[in-house]
Amino acid sequence: MTPWRGRVLTLALALGAVACENPTSTLDPAGRDAAEIARLFWWMAAGAAVIWVIVMAGAVYCARARPGASSPRTHAVLIAGLGVTVPSLLLILLLAFALPPLRTVSDAQSTSTLTIAVTGERWWWRVRYEPPGQPAVDLANELRLPVGARVDVHLRSTNVIHSFWVPSLSGKVDMIPGRETRLSLEPLRTGRFQGICAEYCGTAHALMTFDVTVVDRDEFDRWLDQQRDTAVAPADAVAARGHDAFLQSGCGACHTVRGTPAKGTIGPDLTHLGSRQFIGAGTRPMTVDHIAAWIREPRHQKPDARMPPFASLGEADILAIAAYLQGLR
Ligand code: CUA
Repeated sequence: MTPWRGRVLTLALALGAVACENPTSTLDPAGRDAAEIARLFWWMAAGAAVIWVIVMAGAVYCARARPGASSPRTHAVLIAGLGVTVPSLLLILLLAFALPPLRTVSDAQSTSTLTIAVTGERWWWRVRYEPPGQPAVDLANELRLPVGARVDVHLRSTNVIHSFWVPSLSGKVDMIPGRETRLSLEPLRTGRFQGICAEYCGTAHALMTFDVTVVDRDEFDRWLDQQRDTAVAPADAVAARGHDAFLQSGCGACHTVRGTPAKGTIGPDLTHLGSRQFIGAGTRPMTVDHIAAWIREPRHQKPDARMPPFASLGEADILAIAAYLQGLR
């Protein structure tokens, strides 16, 4: 195999791998709007390839032609035809392809049955489910969506500009302080995907992701009911010690654990922390050790995290609090 063929093959394989295996791939769409965007991408890519081939053919012809072999009139026709007319026609054609999906993607909240308010914090996601006719449910850094249903997402920020993006499901929309922006999501298949912040927002911008799980309607309803419940009681003596230490150390000034006196709203709601996949907005997998490390020194895991270090609580209490929080399913 010649070197350039090898390179082309490697590039094709790499693109294929990105498309198939990545939970943030726009080329493997799992939502209605993402599918429109992916289709548009392939039309654009094909159009660009056609224009490139035509322009390159013109360039090769010009480079190889003997001086004086063709008349000035031929040159004018080549420039006007291959240089101006053909690319212009192709670009107009692509615009015609691009406009209909644009309308689909921007016409949100038509048939939605559920609203989710997402607020960009430094640097995590405050999430509030607002099902019609039912009490709202607060959680953080996680979205669960019913497959086949259209969901409105209302986006806000209390600090700087973030950008909400679940590449597998839809396009991205900025979260602007003092304004509410909107987006709708309509997942077409079940699975786990990743949401990211797509606007540089500060030191921990890259450590600001969220988990998106698409499930069928029954499983979604069960999950939302379970998230609406107050926190479970500590399951054993270690968790009970953690529960007491959590309340006595003042953690409730910033965090809510529904069903306990902890009612703070500065940090994420921890009522069902243990049921999430990650701690620190996608920073580490949810284990007792990672929760304990977070309590000791959050800024070792996420620079500029607003939570202060609590290593002064002592190892026994830190591990007990971590066990208690991990048990909050
Ligand atoms: Cu939030 Cu980048």
